[in-house]
Amino acid sequence: MSALGIIGSSSMDDLPGFKQSRASNESTPYGDPSSRLAHGQLYGKPVIFLARHGDGQSIAPHLINYRANLWALQYAGVERVLAVNAVGGIGERCVSGSLVIPDDLIDYTHGREQTFFDGAGQDLRHVEFSPPYDEELRQRLCAASSAARIGIIPDGIHGVVQGPRLETAAEIKRLKRDGCAIVGMTGMPEAVLAREIGVAYACCGIVVNQAAGIGSGSIHMEIEATKAEGIAVFMQLLRQFLAG
Ligand code: HPA
Repeated sequence: MSALGIIGSSSMDDLPGFKQSRASNESTPYGDPSSRLAHGQLYGKPVIFLARHGDGQSIAPHLINYRANLWALQYAGVERVLAVNAVGGIGERCVSGSLVIPDDLIDYTHGREQTFFDGAGQDLRHVEFSPPYDEELRQRLCAASSAARIGIIPDGIHGVVQGPRLETAAEIKRLKRDGCAIVGMTGMPEAVLAREIGVAYACCGIVVNQAAGIGSGSIHMEIEATKAEGIAVFMQLLRQFLAG
């Protein structure tokens, strides 16, 4: 089985318990990925980790080189990617600290390099993108959560916004009307680029705050108070997933 690729979120510089054996510096036809790829073992299974926002969390969501990241992971032999995204909760069930495995998304981003098939590097192609996440990988995540008795939310629409600012309350109301359960800034074009190159891709959203206008108080303080707990639960899920 090839190594599982894990793309770490803004609250995740590295993976607790990860035993790194080497790092590789991939340069790609699209430029440099966000960080070096960390190759190693997690709970005894091969994993390749990439910090989406770079070492030290220095790359803003709209400036991430998503094409280089996906290309580098595939070049390193990755066939399946688990993307971890810190997100805001919109749906009633999506309270802070919960994990959501979305089954659909709406892309509200703009101006990002969205495709490998732009007619310049490679011929034009219109990939199918419904559903946007790999269903088998999603089901395996949901099964791991049941086996480990971890309560997750097994579906929901991931609204992907441009950032880097947080939303207005009116924008979140609009996303809610659109049916979004969670909101984040980095789920696209990552998901479609994985689809274009045939890498199975699923997302685990860690709800680190209630989206604007839903919670009361400072979003940043809520994120600080919640993120460690969310990551700890995610790591339990990952342990079971890798054992399965
Ligand atoms: N909005 C957008 N992206 C986010 C949020 C949010 O509330 N929280 C974490 N990432």
